[in-house]
This record gives sequence, C-alpha cells and structure tokens, in this order.
Amino acid sequence: MPADYPHIRQIAERYHLKILEDAAQGFGGRIGDQRACSFGDIGTTSFFPAKPLGCYGDGGAIFTDDSQMADRLYSLRVQGRSKGSKHAHCEIGVNSRLDTIQAAILLEKLKAFEQYELQAVNQVAKWYTECLKAAVRTPFVPEGYASSWAQYTIMLKDTETRDRVQRELKKREIPSMIYYPIPLHRQKPYQGMGRSDGEFPGTMRAVKTVLSLPIYPYIKEEDVYHITKVILENA
Ligand SMILES: Cc1ncc(COP(=O)(O)O)c(C=O)c1O
Repeated sequence: MPADYPHIRQIAERYHLKILEDAAQGFGGRIGDQRACSFGDIGTTSFFPAKPLGCYGDGGAIFTDDSQMADRLYSLRVQGRSKGSKHAHCEIGVNSRLDTIQAAILLEKLKAFEQYELQAVNQVAKWYTECLKAAVRTPFVPEGYASSWAQYTIMLKDTETRDRVQRELKKREIPSMIYYPIPLHRQKPYQGMGRSDGEFPGTMRAVKTVLSLPIYPYIKEEDVYHITKVILENA
C-alpha cells in the first residue's frame, strides 16, 4: 500500500526535497486513481519473485515522468553509456539491465496481474480479515487506498503468542514469516548512529509481535480457513 504521499509531498515542497518512492512491495497499490510508483519524483519497484508482480529471477523498474532523469537512468543502467553511443561513456554507472527473458515473462504476467490477480489477492485478504479481525490485529487499509498485498501481516498480543502461532503453523507445514526480525536501526551499518530501541516504539512492537501469512492470488478459500483456524486456536 502506498505511504501517505500527499502528506510527504507537502513536506518535500516545504523543504525543497525530492521524493524517492520505494514501491518494491507496492506495485498495484493506489491512492484514489493514482497508482503506486507514480508518487515520487522517482518511483522504484522490484520484480523479485516474492513481490506482487514477480519475474523468475531478479528484476526491477524505475519510474519517472522527467525525461532528462529518464535519459540519465537509461545511461546509468548500462555502465554510464553516452546517449546514442555504443562505446563512449559519460559517467560511471552500473550493470542493471533487465534480462530479456525476465522482461518476456513480466509482459505476460502483467496481463494476468491487471486482469484478475490483483482482484483475486484482494479477495484473499478479505477472507483473512473477516476470519481474524476479532482475535488479532489485522492490516488497516485507509479509505481511498488500495493494497496489492505483497504481505498479509497480523500483529499478535505478545512475542510468546506470536511464536506459538508460528510453531503451530509450522507443525502443519504452513509457512509464515516475521517481516522483519531485525529493524533498520539495529542493522550493522546503522549501529554507529547511536539510535536506541526506545526511540522506535512502533518498530520495536512490530518486531516482537508481527507475523506474515501466506498470500497470493491462487490460494484457495478453504486453505485460508484452515490457516485462520490454527491462528484462532492459538492466539
Ligand atoms: C521495501 C523494499 N525495498 C526494496 C527491496 C529490494 O528489492 P530487490 O531485492 O529487487 O532489490 C525490497 C525487497 O526485498 C523491499 O521489500
């Protein structure tokens, strides 16, 4: 689901900042009629297989409506090659081309994504929410927003309950994941910034209590009910 970009845009304008929109998990989401990947000065997404629109390996895309920026990005993705040239380079870039085979897969999968997958995955999220909302904290989609459900993440009342639910799911060979067990401020490159857990109460609560459930457009209604039954018995 997109972040609150109308609000973020106001802040960016006040301080003359550019917005980089990370829509790696957001492709297919919307606020009103405006789609994810179109909110930032640059938007990015990931086509890693676990993402809403996945290819069969690594892939991603960058979105911008600034043609000068687009030219620079085209150049950067092929080692900083100069426009119109095969051998001259104007700056140091990276090798970040999308493989043709992945592009071919994505073109086909994009059709299914638009025609029925996005709608189907929203139906799956509805089944989960209907079954679970009275017992655990379920995802909240504000009025006017739409999600593409890269994850369906619930919040349990404490770590013990979360870990018990995960154990019971695992016993029945139902996969679940903690997204994410290590928050950013505890990752090694950020440790030197001197931030403490107490500064991030929401993050720390999430780290201790969240659990992401299996979600994809093709999961059957009866499987969702089977999964929710295990959660309801152990939450
Ligand atoms: C929010 C977010 N940003 C960025 C990424 C990185 O995507 P990729 O692995 O395709 O570079 C991911 C996926 O892991 C993600 O979930």
